Amino acid sequence: MPGRNDPWGYVMAERGHWIFAAFYRRICDVSDRAGFGKVRARLIGDATGDVLEIGAGVGGNLPYYANADHVCLVEPDPAMRKTLAARLGRSPVAAEIGTGTAEETPYPDGRFDTVVSSLVLCTVDDIDRSAAEARRVLKPGGTFLFVEHVGSPDPKARRRQERVEPVWRRLFGGCRLTRDPVAALEKAGFTEIRTETVDLGRQPGLTKPVILGSARA
Ligand SMILES: C[S@@+](CC[C@H](N)C(=O)[O-])C[C@H]1O[C@@H](n2cnc3c(N)ncnc32)[C@H](O)[C@@H]1O
Repeated sequence: MPGRNDPWGYVMAERGHWIFAAFYRRICDVSDRAGFGKVRARLIGDATGDVLEIGAGVGGNLPYYANADHVCLVEPDPAMRKTLAARLGRSPVAAEIGTGTAEETPYPDGRFDTVVSSLVLCTVDDIDRSAAEARRVLKPGGTFLFVEHVGSPDPKARRRQERVEPVWRRLFGGCRLTRDPVAALEKAGFTEIRTETVDLGRQPGLTKPVILGSARA
């Protein structure tokens, strides 16, 4: 456990998630107004039937679930979960918070029609296990909906992301800048993977590009 000789490590280990959660709530409100709200509306508008959202954070997607029947939310961070619980009423359909992580949820095989991930595959510990778990809990033919920032295809921008990533990870709740969610989805056996690049409005260049997409289980 980091202590006196590693004050930064101590702060991040003991208080980091509470600081990040408070900070994240503000970032969410600002970025939603700057353009991410419109992207959330598009993503979540396609979420139908029984829905699982992994890494729901402070519930930024909740207001947009008008076409779903029911939403289960998985959020392992206790500070985020506290805010999420206070915001459940923002969902137009019944929503509940479950246990588990993206890598391991408590739900049976084939339970859900839709699984949603927004800005989560950058942060999970194991992206391959998370993609496999999403496919396991989806009904055959069910839909994985995602919006994620990914490693840049531009070599210069990619090198910058690689250089900054170790510090970035510590500052932003474990977020990686160079992940490849499409490769993880392919590896997990998803098909019909469709993506488009979207603009989130005010957003750090290091987190570009952002892809909005869907995949079939
Ligand atoms: C950048 S936030 C995105 C929150 C939310 N999805 C949104 O769109 O605002 C990343 C979220 O992933 C969660 N997370 C981190 N590791 C996770 C894991 N292994 N399984 C599920 N969620 C995880 C974090 O606690 C955090 O809430």
